[in-house]
Amino acid sequence: MKLFLIPLLLFSVSASASPLPELKPERHAVKLPRDLRESFLENMRDHLSAVSEIQAALAEKNFDKAAEIAKNRLGLDAPSSAACRPGMEMADLAKFMPENMRAIGFKMHSAADQFAVDAKNAGTDSDYRAVIDSLSKVTRQCVSCHAQYRLANRQGKT
Ligand code: HEC
Repeated sequence: MKLFLIPLLLFSVSASASPLPELKPERHAVKLPRDLRESFLENMRDHLSAVSEIQAALAEKNFDKAAEIAKNRLGLDAPSSAACRPGMEMADLAKFMPENMRAIGFKMHSAADQFAVDAKNAGTDSDYRAVIDSLSKVTRQCVSCHAQYRLANRQGKT
C-alpha cells in the first residue's frame, strides 16, 4: 500500500467510532417469569463467552473461526436471537420485552452477522483494524441495552 493512503485509512476507521451510551441511573426494569429470567441470563453469559472466544480467535489470526462463532452464537441464525427477530413478537420471551429493547437486540444480532462477513473477508494483517471496529459495533449494542434495561426481581431488587 502506498504510504500516503495510511492516514486516510486510519481516519476512516476512527471516524466511525462514536461515544458509548451512558449508563442511566434509573434503568427500565423488565419483569420476566423466573424460568425465562434464568434462560435469559444463561443466554447473556453465552454472549459474553462468544465475544471472548472471538477475541481469542482474532488473536490467533483465525478470522474464519471468529466469523463462525459470531454467526452461530450471536447472529440472526443463532437460537438466542429468536426473541429479537421481527415477527416473533408473541414468542415466549419476546412478549415480555419492550419493543425498543427488542430493536437493540436485533441491531446486536445484525451487527454480529456483519462482523462474520467482515471477518471472512479479512485476509491480511492490515484488515485487523476494520475487523476490530466491526466487533466493537456488536459490543456497542450490548452496552446500549445494558445502559437502558435491567431485569426486575434480581438480588432483592424489584
Ligand atoms: C436487548 C438487550 C440486551 C443486549 C443486546 C445484550 N444484553 Fe446482556 N443483559 C441484558 C439485561 C437486561 C441483563 C440483566 C442486567 C441486570 O438485571 O442488571 C443482561 C445481563 C447480562 C450479563 C449478566 C448475566 C448474569 O448471569 O447475571 C452478561 C454477562 C451479559 N448481559 C452479556 C452481554 C453481552 C456480551 C452482550 C452482547 C454481545 C449482551 N449482553 C447484549 C440485556 C441485553
